[in-house]
Amino acid sequence: MRAPINFARWTQEHQHLLKPPVGNQQIWTDSDMIVTVVGGPNQRSDFHDDPFEEYFHQFKGNAHLLIADRGKFERVDLREGDIFLLPAHVRHSPQRPEAGSLCTVIEMPRPLGTKDAFEWYCAACGQRVYRAEVQLASIVEDLPVVYQRFYASSVAERTCAACGEVHPGSDWQAWHATRVRAGTGG
Ligand SMILES: [Fe+2]
Repeated sequence: MRAPINFARWTQEHQHLLKPPVGNQQIWTDSDMIVTVVGGPNQRSDFHDDPFEEYFHQFKGNAHLLIADRGKFERVDLREGDIFLLPAHVRHSPQRPEAGSLCTVIEMPRPLGTKDAFEWYCAACGQRVYRAEVQLASIVEDLPVVYQRFYASSVAERTCAACGEVHPGSDWQAWHATRVRAGTGG
């Protein structure tokens, strides 16, 4: 049995990892439940398709989830003190603009054969541009590989089949700016 952990002390001791470029840290690595603490600021435009629910507790600062749904983006605010249970398969892009913000995220382990996916959407029209499925073993280690593969993809692979807009890849600021300009929501 593991000894209890003083949570405030733990977040203090891992403060240097709860900001860029790492941004998140798993509390127990040899456990059934995947309990991570995620800090801001982050810089991303990917959407996660998790085969299971996700629990959020935004215990310091504010953040929000962008939700991609039928050609539109919606915004779920996670204000300081909020807890939120996200249903399985709801495409979500956690946005953490505040430096020093902290959120506990609890996820389920993925049985072999139950895959996650990471998707990128057209900022101009909300259609999906790219989807990468992955057998997720480590949230901390597996995600950068998926991102790098998308960032290295060709312009053709990032071109929206519906409207011709090219997804800017790693340029998350350009993607968000286009989304706001196009009025696709969120
Ligand atoms: Fe498009």
